[in-house]
Amino acid sequence: TTAAISTIREQVKAWRIKGETVAFVPTMGNLHQGHITLVKEAKTRADHVVVSIFVNPMQFGPKEDLDGYPRTLEQDSEKLVAAGAELLFTPTPELIYPKGLAQQTFIEVPHIGDELCGASRPGHFRGVATIVAKLFNIVQPDMALFGRKDFQQLMIIKTMVEDLSMPIEVIGVDTIRESSGLAMSSRNGYLTADEKHRAATLKRTIDGVITAVQHGQDHHQAIAQAEQQLKAAGFTPDYFELRSADTLRQASENDNHLVVIAAAYLGKARLIDNVSFSRH
Ligand code: PAJ
Repeated sequence: TTAAISTIREQVKAWRIKGETVAFVPTMGNLHQGHITLVKEAKTRADHVVVSIFVNPMQFGPKEDLDGYPRTLEQDSEKLVAAGAELLFTPTPELIYPKGLAQQTFIEVPHIGDELCGASRPGHFRGVATIVAKLFNIVQPDMALFGRKDFQQLMIIKTMVEDLSMPIEVIGVDTIRESSGLAMSSRNGYLTADEKHRAATLKRTIDGVITAVQHGQDHHQAIAQAEQQLKAAGFTPDYFELRSADTLRQASENDNHLVVIAAAYLGKARLIDNVSFSRH
């Protein structure tokens, strides 16, 4: 069932008084197997699972897809009940931002939040960090689960929780993919059948760069080749980089835990993906 802020707080408090643990999975809805995997993972780790569905206007740029973002609440609720979520929070923008988006308090995670997707989407991660902090204060869970598909987002939330001493364990969950390798995403719905077929190139090119790095090849050359392959498949690459998977800074010779992280436009969709690996 969906609920008001006070109802959420009271229910979670009642569980915690009994010594039961609560896991939280924030989403923007239009749920697919990636989201459902987060809920199922949450079930294995906590006594109760709370899910939010909120298409957060603060994290969308003025020219982005806020209005067109797919809203499928009825199907989402059914999937969540089947996956074992007990409490669903689906607030309106007015409930979350009674003063509007120009409210005075924000959360910013500089450096990590300014690069990669942050560079292409100014204000995006400020909107993400602010809504996640607000949702954490509403739900007050013991733990929260996020997908590694949004690697930069996960790192920003871990940093925020650490820097602000929030008493919440942040858990990352591996990316769920189509059999083609394409990472599941609500935005894949923007792709035509032909584009969806070509979209699998993104993961293949990331894997190609990892293989090259593992063989000691210069990563700049491997990335240039990957970008050529993406363009040939009809993508417009945004960024394609090798980074430290621990800090997200530019990879140095001494970093052994690495991530290849990329974003590219295909048709109406902006697709992101990443794969982390250990250099051996
Ligand atoms: P949304 O894109 O709906 O994603 C909700 C959660 O599902 C995020 O933690 C995301 O990383 C995870 N997820 C999405 N696709 C996945 C996949 N293929 N495999 C595994 N996990 C996947 O991310 C957001 O919403 C918002 O920014 C939010 C955190 C809710 C704040 O508004």
